Amino acid sequence: MNARTPRIAAVRRVGTALLASASAMSLTACGVIDGIGGGDSSASPEKGDDITVGLLLPDKDTARFEKFDYPLIKKEVGTLTDGKGKVVYANAEASPEKQSEQFQQMIDDQVDVVLVDAVDAKAIASGVQKAKDAGIPVIAYDRLAEGPIDAYVSHDNELVGEVQGRSLVEELGDKAASSKVVMMNGDPADPNTDRFKEGALAELDGAVNIVKKYDTTKWSPDVAKANMAKAIAAVGLGDIGAVYSANDGMAGAVIDALKEAGASKIPPVTGQDANLDAVQRIVAGEQFMTVYKPFLQEATNAAKMAVYKVQGRDLEFDSLTQESVDSPTEDDIPAHLVAVVALTKANIEETVIKDGVYTADQICTSAYKADCEQQGLE
Ligand code: GAL
Repeated sequence: MNARTPRIAAVRRVGTALLASASAMSLTACGVIDGIGGGDSSASPEKGDDITVGLLLPDKDTARFEKFDYPLIKKEVGTLTDGKGKVVYANAEASPEKQSEQFQQMIDDQVDVVLVDAVDAKAIASGVQKAKDAGIPVIAYDRLAEGPIDAYVSHDNELVGEVQGRSLVEELGDKAASSKVVMMNGDPADPNTDRFKEGALAELDGAVNIVKKYDTTKWSPDVAKANMAKAIAAVGLGDIGAVYSANDGMAGAVIDALKEAGASKIPPVTGQDANLDAVQRIVAGEQFMTVYKPFLQEATNAAKMAVYKVQGRDLEFDSLTQESVDSPTEDDIPAHLVAVVALTKANIEETVIKDGVYTADQICTSAYKADCEQQGLE
């Protein structure tokens, strides 16, 4: 399922995550992406600037959605439409039923386009079909919704898993082969979960000894914490060599479970999302790494795709969606995939601080001051 057939193959297999990220960044930096938008070069616009973009996001447990994705999309829609375009936003709070009601409301309200980050990629398909029937284009945001979507914008999700897996193997070094690893995967209803898992297993299988694997309903940190307690009981605290955690919310819970079980030293734990508390745990040496996904690029390009689609700016839309993906229900969906970067103690400055995601002051609160000073983060 979902075999990807990129028309531009460059981004994904560049080698190290850092290079992959740099190549994606340079697309923006050199104007290949940004240079396309914003101008008046549009071909036969269907609508003016007075447009409404519906935005459906999946949950509030993961900080990125309300902290970055929503405000960034809103801002870019404003910029692209001279402040005349609106974003109508709804968060499903991890409920597929709630998301389907929110979707229906947007169809009833006749928004011009919907950006949907599905709680459940299968369950959302009927909403996508209804929107399509009502003549409303749908762009899948971050997670590949099933049904007749018009386009998809996301990070390179298999690469996310590869970066997590490869970083863990490198960190374990010559201890890798003998290390017992617990694997905390995400929500099975989220199609990204399988991509993360596939990418990670491509690096971990054969390199470490995976002793326990768990799926995590709704990406819930509470569920991850309970599973980690089970893993500790089954494997033995001292015998757990590392924990692959698919995201930061779960990484925090895993670390709490390890501490509550009496761990004096936390083994390497991975994450994803560069949540502020995860970056602080990295500074403190409690979490080994996270995956930094440049939300700015994903959100900004999503806003562009939505506005171009509504305004009939086909050339600009096509230029932004030069890759393609298959979902379980559709083939050749035009896509834009942003690469990612491994974030460890070593590159906090060059990633989240440089990109303005957090200031050093936000990271280096009193509990982290000493570690920050030691690492030259001020
Ligand atoms: C994924 C998303 C991640 C993370 C996770 C938890 O689909 O790509 O960034 O937020 O969901 O909700």
